[in-house]
Amino acid sequence: MQSERRPDDMVRITTPELADAFIEEQIAALRAQIGDKKVLLALSGGVDSSVVAAMLIKAIGDRLVCVHVNHGLLRKGEPEQVIEVFKNQMKANLIYVDATDRFLDKLAGVSDPEKKRKIIGGEFIEVFAEEARKLDGIDFLAQGTIWPDILESEAGIKAHHNAGGLPEDMKFELVEPVRILFKDEVRIVGERLGLPANMVYRQPFPGPGLGVRCPGAITRDRLEAVRESDAILREEFAKNGLEGKVWQYFTVVPDFKSTGVKEGKRTFDWPCIIRAINTTDVMEVTVEHLSDELIDHLVKRIITEVPGINRVLFDYTPKPPATVEYE
Ligand code: XMP
Repeated sequence: MQSERRPDDMVRITTPELADAFIEEQIAALRAQIGDKKVLLALSGGVDSSVVAAMLIKAIGDRLVCVHVNHGLLRKGEPEQVIEVFKNQMKANLIYVDATDRFLDKLAGVSDPEKKRKIIGGEFIEVFAEEARKLDGIDFLAQGTIWPDILESEAGIKAHHNAGGLPEDMKFELVEPVRILFKDEVRIVGERLGLPANMVYRQPFPGPGLGVRCPGAITRDRLEAVRESDAILREEFAKNGLEGKVWQYFTVVPDFKSTGVKEGKRTFDWPCIIRAINTTDVMEVTVEHLSDELIDHLVKRIITEVPGINRVLFDYTPKPPATVEYE
């Protein structure tokens, strides 16, 4: 059985050697806990679930069943990377569910931010539970719970969802191999498990995904504009040495249009807002100021490459008063 609590005297994992020792210890604990049984994992492609997957693949191979639900609100290239890294490279037992239409149909016409979040969260559980019911002989559910989740739930800041809100009749024993680790430790462990750096060191990404960056009722064309502009921003940040340096950066395409002109014709298109922020605790946030050259280049690329955009704006607002995300 794994430790429930982080030992007070546990040394912070800061070196490859410490990470390797942790991995070795956890693999033995996982094998002892799981025996010859099977484990189910919702693999989002985020840091925590990816590290849990890599650890369990090492411990129990194809007795880990990973389910990757594409809710249609992932960033460009993310589902492909999950399939490439886990299915093709690590030979994981991976079930890929493209539930894009299901999510976007349910979200059509819904503009209230809380309702959108509820639909995305609820539908996710439903899709995952449907996949779980198709499988036989699963006794365990793996979760990417980390130590700050436990501390925050104990402090009443965050609801810690055991078993992710699965229906009552679906009872699994939990497996939480990174439960006692801080985020920086999870990243080092992930690297030692062979995960690509851009997966392990990626910026935070909200559960409702691009859905919160397409404010109001989501439409496929505006969502595509968010996805494409986000991909350009990420590419340019990587090229300009800002990847891994700036805490979080993304684009938002609000639901209003303004006039413009393109190739001699009047346009009536959306603006694209760039947000780039730094923080340590996400309670207070400062803005990363970009160079004029980079801004000019981003504006040019986004307006020429992303259909439906005719203006690019930069958000200079810290938190407070503005939150990081737009809804
Ligand atoms: P806010 O907008 O509250 O964001 O200043 C603070 C941090 O939390 C992320 N965020 C979310 N993460 N589900 C998540 O998993 C959500 O619904 C959600 N909303 C915001 C946000 O990206 C930022 O890092």
